[in-house]
Amino acid sequence: MGNLSIFPPRGSAFAGQVDLLYTFLLVVSAIMMVLIFGCIFIFAVKYRRRPGAPPPPQHHGSMLLEAVWSTIPFLVMLVMFVWGAKLYFDSATPPANTLDLYVTGKQWMWKVEYPGGQREINEIHVPTGTPVKVTLASEDVIHSFFIPAFRVKHDVVPGHYEIAWFQATKPGRYHLFCAEYCGADHSKMGGWVNVMSPADYEVWLSGGERGGSMVDQGAKLFSQYGCVTCHVLDAKGRCPSLRNMFGHPVQLDDGRTVMADEAYVRESILDPNAKIVKGYERNVMPVFQGQISEEGLLQLIVFVKSLSQPPEQPVPTKGPPVTAKGSPK
Ligand code: CUA
Repeated sequence: MGNLSIFPPRGSAFAGQVDLLYTFLLVVSAIMMVLIFGCIFIFAVKYRRRPGAPPPPQHHGSMLLEAVWSTIPFLVMLVMFVWGAKLYFDSATPPANTLDLYVTGKQWMWKVEYPGGQREINEIHVPTGTPVKVTLASEDVIHSFFIPAFRVKHDVVPGHYEIAWFQATKPGRYHLFCAEYCGADHSKMGGWVNVMSPADYEVWLSGGERGGSMVDQGAKLFSQYGCVTCHVLDAKGRCPSLRNMFGHPVQLDDGRTVMADEAYVRESILDPNAKIVKGYERNVMPVFQGQISEEGLLQLIVFVKSLSQPPEQPVPTKGPPVTAKGSPK
């Protein structure tokens, strides 16, 4: 067969499972096709009108036949549905201990940022054996983050975050594509995912220049934009303290409870009046819509995240402890 293959290389833990389901769909479809076209052909020949012979007797329905050819396909479809749904939910739900990456799509490039502050364009470096969670944002139009070898494809929609995750299994260099037509140079919007052994990855992480970890940069923005004057970290200020807020439920003044996740923090920065925390006032915080870049937002979110470190998600940063940060200029 040489290089001829119906599947791209398999580079993630998920790829084999996706291919198995795909093969099942293919085989079921092939069997159905052979059955249907075979029957049409055989019956057309066998029961053709012969000169001089009377028309054969007609059948008008058989309950047994109807039941059999309804039930069997239904059960086969049910298998497809349950199997597909399980795979879908697994692929949509990242596990607890992930390595976090932040990827911003922009006409026409992928900008990648690591918690440690490393940045790349159209190149991603990940280790094998660790689940990687990618938070996807777009600065302009809809893009689609597509790594065929990982069987990962996710639309990247401006205005909110999308989450994709994978666990790479084999070191190598895999294609990254944009799979949503996004303008003149859409076809050039691509890059490479470099999968390395954990040891090589550590070496890669420690090399190269950087402008401080994402937490440090977020902390800088936090004081630069004056957030720190109201969001006093360890006392009651005019705005809710952000210590231990991320990842926990938040009570709102309209009685609802929401989970403080990336999307919630993002919305609260851009449109603070959308959700008001119980016991706090409306119109206290300025609206930051259009003031902060997507990358700045991600840095702020990583900083806010670092203020509440759930035990299962240590923030991999080498910067100084964040408590010392964020004093007014
Ligand atoms: Cu971005 Cu196509």
